[in-house]
Amino acid sequence: MPPRLTRRAVIGGGAAGVAALTLGSCGSDSTAYDAAASDLRAPLPDTPTMQDLVRFATLAANGHNTQPWRFRAGASDLTILPDFSRHTPAVDPDDHHLYASLGCAAENLSLAAQARGLSGEVRFDAAGDGQAIVDLSTAPADESALFRAIPARQSSRIAYDGRPASGEQMTRLASAAGRYGVDALMITARKEMEAVQALVIEGNNRQIDDPAFIAELKAWLRFNPDAALRTGDGLYSGASGNPTIPDWLGPIVFELFFTKSGEADKYAQHVSTSAGLVVFVADRDAPAGWFNAGRAYQRFALQATADGLTSAFLNQTVEVPAQRTELQTLLGLGARRPNLVVRFGRGPVLPYSLRRPVSAVMV
Ligand SMILES: Cc1cc2nc3c(=O)[nH]c(=O)nc-3n(C[C@H](O)[C@H](O)[C@H](O)COP(=O)(O)O)c2cc1C
Repeated sequence: MPPRLTRRAVIGGGAAGVAALTLGSCGSDSTAYDAAASDLRAPLPDTPTMQDLVRFATLAANGHNTQPWRFRAGASDLTILPDFSRHTPAVDPDDHHLYASLGCAAENLSLAAQARGLSGEVRFDAAGDGQAIVDLSTAPADESALFRAIPARQSSRIAYDGRPASGEQMTRLASAAGRYGVDALMITARKEMEAVQALVIEGNNRQIDDPAFIAELKAWLRFNPDAALRTGDGLYSGASGNPTIPDWLGPIVFELFFTKSGEADKYAQHVSTSAGLVVFVADRDAPAGWFNAGRAYQRFALQATADGLTSAFLNQTVEVPAQRTELQTLLGLGARRPNLVVRFGRGPVLPYSLRRPVSAVMV
């Protein structure tokens, strides 16, 4: 098999092919990386500070790992604000993913608060730029399985083992995710999964043809542990099971191996080895709905983690307008916008992604 390094491959997948490159560790410090990733995921103290709660919030999924959020502590609440300096206009021109990422963080924060005897009630205030207020007044403690899964959840962009999820797992996933006016449409029939896969590949092809998309993606790639540690953000190749390469070589390798055919093979393999797909559809095509789709996804991914499953996004089909329209038709959604597309199944644990320090995100 020729070496393959593909879009979400430097970010995501193709590990077997890329391993053929055997480019070594390029002197980067993976021990320091592992220590940083593990410190971030240290247990939440019994009596957490605002900083502890924010740390758990930032462990949430977020587009390109840009971490487009800021947190403001009040007397008995935390406000999550959008950080537009970290938006990704090429892949996310209307800031849909940005608000979904805030929803992911809000869900983590809410679960962490509830686990430590704080209300955790979330209110999205659509005024101005939009913000979420998470109430931290005293309440009965509820340490849920979803809370316990927060440090272990990750996006796993590699092939899974092809086994289906059990009926009980499917029920738990659907019940965890179907909240906040969001429908979580579970797809496990192979024919339907392949129809979505075709849209993912077509969307991916269009993104590869878009120089602005590629330039933006490259800016967020981190090809080795040192690069990821320097910024504490972005898409670290090792977190997708790929080899680490020097900074200077990264863009060259990316250009060489990021091809439409390589990507198509990868996504076909990723979908065919997944237990199923889930499409999140909020009741409103507005920041409040996008935020709720993020909350629902985060619950889904945490429930999957708690159940020994893993997951990854396949959002090309909702990012490119033509494919999004096709997905609407395929799923019979009428005018409702499909927000996020995710695959799930069983796969190994990969190195975890980093986050910026809490001090960098508190205002
Ligand atoms: C709204 C949103 C959109 C995302 N889109 C994609 C995507 O299209 N492809 C992908 O591989 N990952 C996608 N991700 C996953 C992020 O890249 C990932 O959450 C981030 O790198 C942090 O890694 P972690 O999830 O392992 O903590 C998305 C995440 C969010 C919240």
